[in-house]
Amino acid sequence: MEKLETVVQEALKLFARIDDAAQLEQAKARYLGKAGALTGLLKSLGKLPATERPSMGARINAAKERLEAALAAQREKIQSRRLETQLAQEALDVTLAGRGAGVGGLHPVTRTMQRIEALFHSIGFEVADGPEIETDYYNFTALNQPENHPARSMHDTFYVDDGKHLLRTHTSPIQIRYMETHRPPIKIIAPGRVYRVDSDATHSPMFHQIEGLWIDEHISLADLKGVVADFLRRFFERDDLKVRFRPSFFPFTEPSAEIDMSFGDGWLEIGGCGMVHPNVLKNVNIDSEKHQGFAFGLGPDRLTMLRYGVNDLRLFFENDLRFLKQFN
Ligand code: FA5
Repeated sequence: MEKLETVVQEALKLFARIDDAAQLEQAKARYLGKAGALTGLLKSLGKLPATERPSMGARINAAKERLEAALAAQREKIQSRRLETQLAQEALDVTLAGRGAGVGGLHPVTRTMQRIEALFHSIGFEVADGPEIETDYYNFTALNQPENHPARSMHDTFYVDDGKHLLRTHTSPIQIRYMETHRPPIKIIAPGRVYRVDSDATHSPMFHQIEGLWIDEHISLADLKGVVADFLRRFFERDDLKVRFRPSFFPFTEPSAEIDMSFGDGWLEIGGCGMVHPNVLKNVNIDSEKHQGFAFGLGPDRLTMLRYGVNDLRLFFENDLRFLKQFN
């Protein structure tokens, strides 16, 4: 039975060359399958003399076991080779420098707002809040601007489609909301976003204001000037700051003034202010014979421009990180 050993050698050589799992199973069928070479030899046992059959049968079975063992070893080899290739393809270089977690920072206008809140808090002002979508009543009427009042055209208003609401054009409606629910003494600031149809280097369609309101029994214009001028000196950390109160008009204050600060060769208006008009107090049932006070509305975006020497307000809202990163 030299044939048996030849068949085994041939099979072992073939198995060792194959590096694909499916091909290996096909090769197995050629030797151990129904029509396989070894199976053929087993079938031909019957033709042998009875005395030779047992030893020949045992040899064939031993050959089968060798082939099975060789197949199992080859299967394992193929699988581990596949794993190696996969690992090599998905290799991670753990020695590469990391990307690093980006460090966030506060927007320059947010820094200004926080600074303003802290400074006013230190002289006893509470912080109040109100909605950005307002009614005509709070934004205008209650502030002594009845319908068709020419002062309404000073504000280029964004109206909401329902015809009843608008995007607040200033933070002054918070004065009304607060005075409806609180009695004097009242001493608040109210920061927030406001909206106007407006856009150039010193005007943005969305900008910020900080409203101030102090109502008590003996508050005068001198208090207004003192509080605002002192705040600005502390905000800019300069005692020689050039601030100007320019007589002006607001329907909700009387007398009224604009607050200007020196900016380049000229002045930049940073807020409006005045003594709260008696009609406004009447609208919230506060006795204007007994109580009076002042209000102001500051533009923190413009204060930020002045503090950091930025000459175009719109840069703050374009969200270009190259610009914003400089403030952190
Ligand atoms: C008002 O809005 C008044 N409500 C302020 C006020 C409050 C007066 C209380 C009296 C009493 P004015 O429209 O002037 O006023 O706006 C106030 C400030 O907001 C301006 O001085 C300016 O600094 C800023 N501001 C106005 N429009 C814009 C804009 N489009 N972009 C950036 N800042 C603006």
